[in-house]
Amino acid sequence: MMPRSRRVPFIVANWKMHKTRGPAEQLARDVVRALADVRGVDVAICPPATALEVVGRALAGTPWLLGAQTMHEEAHGAFTGEISPTMLLDVGCRCVILGHSERRQWYGETDEALTRKVRSAFSHRLMPIVCVGERLIEREAGQTDVLVTQQVEAAVVGVGEQSEVPLVIAYEPVWAIGTGRTATGEEANRVAALIRWVVASRCGAAAGDAVRVLYGGSVKPDNIKEFLGQPEVDGALVGGASLDAAAFAAIVRAAERARS
Ligand code: PGA
Repeated sequence: MMPRSRRVPFIVANWKMHKTRGPAEQLARDVVRALADVRGVDVAICPPATALEVVGRALAGTPWLLGAQTMHEEAHGAFTGEISPTMLLDVGCRCVILGHSERRQWYGETDEALTRKVRSAFSHRLMPIVCVGERLIEREAGQTDVLVTQQVEAAVVGVGEQSEVPLVIAYEPVWAIGTGRTATGEEANRVAALIRWVVASRCGAAAGDAVRVLYGGSVKPDNIKEFLGQPEVDGALVGGASLDAAAFAAIVRAAERARS
């Protein structure tokens, strides 16, 4: 296996449906300031669609990536309310969160849709940040591994071994999102290893080594170390705590320290 240090840690901010343009721009500027001297960590900020442009402007000239929270797979068409990969590229997005459990739960997104969206993201050279994870009822029924395997397979089917676009998969147990509960570091590591194995078996050993696996679900400055200390976990997808520049910067700095 590739030494973990070869995978650059990645911390992703998912602002969800928070912030109109003014406060979004302000938060982005605060984050940029708070991360001014950070090195060796990749960071993406995923604001709501209406704030992509202003946040992109605030990130201009920094190494930090602009990302979207969802997208439609088609480049254009009669899909009312949807946003296409070409539109995301047009406002400067470099990555996109796909298959978030809130999209699955509230908007009926299926594994089939995930397959189409991931393929489309790759073909448009947008880095997909694919979310997988089990609900509490599924965990209690002992279905975590089967379900996560299914979701990862859906994400990578058809991607093949040739993609030059990096792949990121976030393990987010649904019962840990916004609840203050988290998986243990050990359990996050175990599922991350499973995810890596599924990617390797579908897309080849090199892809399995290269895929960055993040943990998500109630990540905060005071618990991030537990996850970053795990050999299979390469970073975090952060919701609530990413709305506070100081808390988010503390998480990014923990990633910087973990790899130095
Ligand atoms: P949370 O959200 O950090 O607020 O739990 C994480 C996510 O849903 O991506």
